Amino acid sequence: MQENVDITRNSMSSLVDAFFSLLAKKRLQENTQQIAEKLAIPKTEGICTVGMGGSSIAGQIAIALLNDSSSIPLTFVRDYQLPAFIDDRWTVITVSYSGTTEETLSAYNDADSRGCELFSVTTGGELGALCSSERTHVLPKGIQPRAALPMILAAVLPLMQCLLGNRPTDFEHLSEKLTDRQKELKGSMKEPQEIATHIHQRIPAFIGWRHLAPVAYRAKTQINENAKSTAYSLELPEANHNEIEASAAYANQSIAPILLRSTYEDEQTRRRFEATSKILEQESVEVESIQFSGESKLEEVLYAIQYLDAVSVRLADIRGVNPMGVPQISLLKAILAGNIEL
Ligand code: PA5
Repeated sequence: MQENVDITRNSMSSLVDAFFSLLAKKRLQENTQQIAEKLAIPKTEGICTVGMGGSSIAGQIAIALLNDSSSIPLTFVRDYQLPAFIDDRWTVITVSYSGTTEETLSAYNDADSRGCELFSVTTGGELGALCSSERTHVLPKGIQPRAALPMILAAVLPLMQCLLGNRPTDFEHLSEKLTDRQKELKGSMKEPQEIATHIHQRIPAFIGWRHLAPVAYRAKTQINENAKSTAYSLELPEANHNEIEASAAYANQSIAPILLRSTYEDEQTRRRFEATSKILEQESVEVESIQFSGESKLEEVLYAIQYLDAVSVRLADIRGVNPMGVPQISLLKAILAGNIEL
C-alpha cells in the first residue's frame, strides 16, 4: 500500500522544515535499481529527464551535479516532445507528481515511440498506469509537487547514478546528517525572514553558478508559486555578457540581486562574483550575497534549496498569500483539458 506524507495537513512552512527528512521518505525499490544497473553505460548512451514545474527541477539539479563526471550526454526536457537526437539508445526518466501533466505524458509517449528505456517517478495518475510497475517509483501522495522535491531528487539522482555505473547516494544517511547539521548551521546565516523582508516590494534576481544555477531557478519558481510574486534567475558567467548592462536600471526597477555563493567556486568565478557585486554597488544597487557550504556539492545544493524555499514561504506570509494553492496553474490546466471555458 502506498504510504502518504503524514504532514499533509500542515502548512508549506512545515513541509519546508521537513525538507531534509523527506529525503529519506521513500527509497528507490530494489528491483527498479537493479533494472537501472543493468541498463548502465555503455548500454545507455544518454539520459534525459522530463517533467514540468516542481516535478522538473530535480532532473535539472541532478544533471548539474553529474555533468562534471558523466561520460554520456545528460539533458532535461520541459516540453511535449523530445529533441530529435534522443533515440532508442537513450534512457528517459519522466517525472510528474500528479501523473496527469499533459506535456509530461506526451513526452513519455514520444520517448516510448522512439524505443527509449523508460522510468517514471509519480504518485500515480495516467503516468503511473503507462509505465511498468518495476520501472515506476511511486511517491507518497498528498503534498504540492514542488514540496516533494526532496523525495523526487532521492529517486532521480540514484537512478541516474546507477545508469552511469556509479554507486547511488545513500539518501537515508544524508537525510540524518543534514538534519543534524541544520541545527548547527542555525545562527551562522541570516534568518530567511530577513531575506524575505529585503525582497518584499522588490523583484529578486537570484544569481547562481554551475550547480547553484538550478538552485537560482528553483528560488525563482518558489517565489512565483509560494509567494505569488515576480522573481527571476540568472546564471554566471552568462549574465555578465548581457544582464550586467541592465544594472543601471536596477534601482529604479526595484530589482534585488541575490548572489548565491558556493564554497566550490574556483578563483575565476570568485573574482567574477566580486566584480559583478562592485559594478552593481557602483550603480547604487543593494547586493545581497548568501554564502552556502556543504561537504559535497549535493549537500550544498540541498542546504541552499531548503534555505531559499524558507525565504519563499516567509515572503508568502509577509504578502498575506497562501503558499499552498496554485489557482492560476490549476485554472490553466482546466482550460487546456477542456473542463472550463473562459
Ligand atoms: O509545483 C507545482 O504545483 C507545479 O509546478 C507542478 O509541479 C506542475 O504544474 C506540474 O505538475 P506535476 O508535478 O503534477 O506534473
